[in-house]
Amino acid sequence: MHQKQRYTLTAALPYTNGPIHIGHLAGVYVPADIYARYLRLKGEDVAFICGSDEHGVPITIKAKKEGITPQQLVDKYHAIIKQSFEEFGISFDNYSRTSAKIHHETASEFFKKLYDNDKFIEQVTEQLYDEQADQFLADRFVVGTCPKCGNEESYGDQCERCGTSHNATDLINPKSAITGAVPVLRKTNHWFLPLNEYEKWLKEWILDGHKEWKPNVYGQVKSWIDDELKPRAVTRDLDWGIPVPLPNAEGKVLYVWFDAPIGYISSTKEWATRTGKDWEPYWKDPKTKLIHFIGKDNIVFHCIIFPAMLKAEGSYILPENVPANEFLNLEGNKLSTSKNWAVWLHEYLEEFPGKQDALRYALTANAPETKDNDFTWKSFQERNNSELAGIFGNFVNRVVVLTNKYYEGVVPNAGSEKHEELNLIKTFADEIGTSIETFRFREASQKLIELARRGNQFLQLHEPWKKIKEDPEVVKGIMFTALQLVAALAYLSEPFLPFTSGKLKKTLGLSDLTWDEIKISSDKFLLDTGCQITQNPEILFPQIEDAQIEKQLEKLEASKKQNSADQAVLPAQKPEIQYEDFSKIDLRVGTILSAEKMPKAKKLLVLKIDTGLDVRTIVSGIAEHYSPEEIIGKQVTVVANLAPRELRGVESHGMILMAETPDGKLVFVNTDCKDTPNGSGIS
Ligand code: MF3
Ligand code: ZN
Repeated sequence: MHQKQRYTLTAALPYTNGPIHIGHLAGVYVPADIYARYLRLKGEDVAFICGSDEHGVPITIKAKKEGITPQQLVDKYHAIIKQSFEEFGISFDNYSRTSAKIHHETASEFFKKLYDNDKFIEQVTEQLYDEQADQFLADRFVVGTCPKCGNEESYGDQCERCGTSHNATDLINPKSAITGAVPVLRKTNHWFLPLNEYEKWLKEWILDGHKEWKPNVYGQVKSWIDDELKPRAVTRDLDWGIPVPLPNAEGKVLYVWFDAPIGYISSTKEWATRTGKDWEPYWKDPKTKLIHFIGKDNIVFHCIIFPAMLKAEGSYILPENVPANEFLNLEGNKLSTSKNWAVWLHEYLEEFPGKQDALRYALTANAPETKDNDFTWKSFQERNNSELAGIFGNFVNRVVVLTNKYYEGVVPNAGSEKHEELNLIKTFADEIGTSIETFRFREASQKLIELARRGNQFLQLHEPWKKIKEDPEVVKGIMFTALQLVAALAYLSEPFLPFTSGKLKKTLGLSDLTWDEIKISSDKFLLDTGCQITQNPEILFPQIEDAQIEKQLEKLEASKKQNSADQAVLPAQKPEIQYEDFSKIDLRVGTILSAEKMPKAKKLLVLKIDTGLDVRTIVSGIAEHYSPEEIIGKQVTVVANLAPRELRGVESHGMILMAETPDGKLVFVNTDCKDTPNGSGIS
């Protein structure tokens, strides 16, 4: 009997200040899901836990921007995120949220226990305060220069460039992100977790005890510890979050990074209640393996701060491993929610219906496991069309078609004609398993494709289509073997390509097996002689067309344009004038009657304008933006009483109003006055 190993797998709780994008998927959720699905196939006892991270300053900032309350904001994104994960086949056992009652209770109790056991230092310190906004500036409410790397846009709690987590008061030249004001210092009391007291223990536990952790994770932890750990405030002066559960703590909430990881625990509780299980062994039995899947910006919180919290509490287990990934870029640029430089999961699901596995595969095959990687739409298309369809789909299709053609879909009797390629199944099941167990998901995915490639080679080598006439018995052996390989692909692809695996199992009429049962022996097969496979299989990987890719690239191009527009530096406002000043300007509707290039002047057009009052000449600097032909007949706004001026020997009598676009193009200030005759006044 297989002795079940209990696993608690957590995937970083996503912030509900925006939807999920491919960076989140590649870094955290796809690898975590592959691992969870694999362990379930191994017959292990798995709790795969996640939920929405709904507190913290970014949420309140975004809510303000969208003109809604923080609660409305988190409700909106929680729904989008939860649904898109489900549709994408991320097989969480529970997806909770940190605004849930169970979480507020769990986090409050956790804090209370640490408080009661004197695990905190309570201290009055000076914190940054924005006098204009009348509030303390915690975390992302303040930006300034990172004391470690010099990044001028570091946040109060963490620098996104070098990953350092610091105190807001460590920032050089801090500025309020709310008003831009230079903050003052104001006294306030907070509770601190004295990380320095955990240094020796952390060294022993991780630096000595977990040398097998990924080098990027181990290295970051080491540099943190070498840098000396300081007490960290676990409370904030904010009004969005879990209230500090102490008397006299009004206006104070738990720091989001204190409450969020406890969300793993409350989500486990929620799951246990729903399914009639006991949550405690998943967090307290030393035999349980706790594994955190995260992105690299979360390393310090999961390897130092949260473990110190768990240690301080005393009754919890610690993570067995924290396989953090690096970042995924998109078409050469950093993914960014605010710049809309992303592929959003919910949009992908709409635009590529039924193609979950194509994205899962592209993100796995190119996962940023050891260094940052780049996602390009072209390579996504290539992975689908050449690898999934061209190798995997092609092999499956050839075998299914030939089986139907030769045997009406009935698995033939191989007799003594079995091939040694049957052994590939165990070999690949073992190798893929080992790769997954060591968090090498790219490698695992490439081995899966390699098995399909070997299947194609097998067919190519034996050419059943050439032998079917004269040697039908030999062909039975070939097809029997090929069918077992196809069945193996159906099973072994499940962690990576769950939708494909499901379709393929249906095509072949396969029932569920554990990972070890897939490893067939000489007298036990995946598809027995006489089994009937389906006559009209579904296409596993429809082609992704150039037009689809182009459309995505255009979408990104539009984001780029929008960004440069958003970033355009606007001219400063001119000094104030009185209405009397303004009313001196005589603005009129006019029509361009003719236009000509000014000889030897690149920029100038000579226009004849009907102003209603007269027909006059105006020289306008728009020759680089409009050709004379395209503007004749256009209605424009004319400054009629501007004193005449000579330009290159032509007297210009007035001016035409133009606006400048972010990329420097001049456009007419559209008067849109079809029914307004020339000469109508504008005011
Ligand atoms: N919301 C955080 C992020 O997106 C991750 C929180 S993980 C948890 O970076 F441990 F705090 F839950
Ligand atoms: Zn920095």
